[in-house]
Amino acid sequence: MAKAKITTVFYCQNCGHESSKWMGQCPACREWNTFVEEKVNTKVSAPLASKPGQGREKPLRLSEITLNEEERMSTHIKELDRVLGGGIVSGSLILVGGDPGIGKSTLLLQVCQKMVKDGRKILYISGEESLRQIKLRANRIGEFGENLLLLCETNLGMIEETIRRTAPDVTIIDSVQTVYNDEISSSPGSVSQVREATNVFLQLAKSTGISVFIVGHVTKEGTVAGPRVLEHMVDTVLYFEGDRHASYRILRGVKNRFGSTNEIGVFEMQDKGLVEVANPSEFMLDGRPEGASGSIVSCAVEGSRPILLEIQALVCHTSFGLPRRQAIGTDYNRVNLLMAVLEKRVGLKLADCDAYVNLAGGMKITEPAIDLAIAMAIASSLKNRPIDDNMAAFGEIGLSGEVRSVSMIEQRIREAAKLGLTNCVIPQSCIKQVKNIEGIKLTGVSSVQDAIDLI
Ligand code: TYD
Ligand code: MG
Repeated sequence: MAKAKITTVFYCQNCGHESSKWMGQCPACREWNTFVEEKVNTKVSAPLASKPGQGREKPLRLSEITLNEEERMSTHIKELDRVLGGGIVSGSLILVGGDPGIGKSTLLLQVCQKMVKDGRKILYISGEESLRQIKLRANRIGEFGENLLLLCETNLGMIEETIRRTAPDVTIIDSVQTVYNDEISSSPGSVSQVREATNVFLQLAKSTGISVFIVGHVTKEGTVAGPRVLEHMVDTVLYFEGDRHASYRILRGVKNRFGSTNEIGVFEMQDKGLVEVANPSEFMLDGRPEGASGSIVSCAVEGSRPILLEIQALVCHTSFGLPRRQAIGTDYNRVNLLMAVLEKRVGLKLADCDAYVNLAGGMKITEPAIDLAIAMAIASSLKNRPIDDNMAAFGEIGLSGEVRSVSMIEQRIREAAKLGLTNCVIPQSCIKQVKNIEGIKLTGVSSVQDAIDLI
């Protein structure tokens, strides 16, 4: 066997780009100051097929390959199953990424709870928390069965050996950035360490059929390799996102070899762990003021799910020469653009006004379909005239003030109808596509002016 050779390379901690010299800016992901020197042992990871007994020498015909149907395990958390495409595929490697403190460990511990009750054997390996800390968290979440196995370990070799010995159905590695291989000289969390660890888990999953969840923290400092470095190696990538100050959390599928990535799962963080939110629209519209100016409902599509949300605007006279503009939960530049359109095409006097736009509930939406609602909220606040509480608006606004069509129009209208709204303002060009929906009056508009006239 070739002798191990130790070389020095530089890795971008954001995207994993490799370079032989240090660079200020990563040419691949354009992030600054992310290169870190690492020593790599060029021998360590042999490719999957070169290990004895694992390579399949004879190629098979597609028709010769048999699938057994029962290969998906339900997590009994509907929102998670939905994002995974119907459950955990055995032998798959799933990466769960997200900011520290967002709730990754909590979610996965809840997966353990549900699956253990289902009679599955689960091994939870933590490199971040002590067994006592996990127990404390588990006590908050509720009753656990007998079959949950816990281990605190960071050494890759030990982890691999334990997983092979216990042979669980599912194993969870929390987090991959704490795992290290002592044959590699770079520190835990570096690109070469997390790659090596993921490679080992990949081989383990594929050769034994154990499903492996790996947790990866998204970090800004650049000293720890982020989950993006691993995205190409794993089967499924899920990101857990949400506003720190809002209680809801969104689980988003970014990559899925076993299902579509067009799905999101919505959760709410409560004192007893994460609770599924089956109807996000209801959750988002909760506590909406009645008869207030500058407020209107719009419908955004997240993945394949329409979600209603309230858009608020506050426009007031500026006391300084330069008006203040602020956008919370949506694109600031887009709001500026819409205000310019309102000024030029509708003739609203906004140049000497401060304007604040807020998506209530802490959602972040950049979809242009909410343009029309933002424009109507701004106009309503400026004129101090409330919009009908039962009205929702969606449509993209172009620079000439035209209202352009949006996708999935019918789903959006149905979602509005479900929550008891009675009036939808939609692009004129979409009117023909929509069949009659009971209880909903549709108003087609072809320009912003038409929409503002409704207020
Ligand atoms: P955690 O799962 O530890 O985050 P991560 O593993 O992504 O770093 O989540 C921790 C946060 O969740 C912490 O701020 C406290 C909060 N939390 C609750 O609000 N309720 C609960 O029942 C639990 C277990 C945590
Ligand atoms: Mg954690």
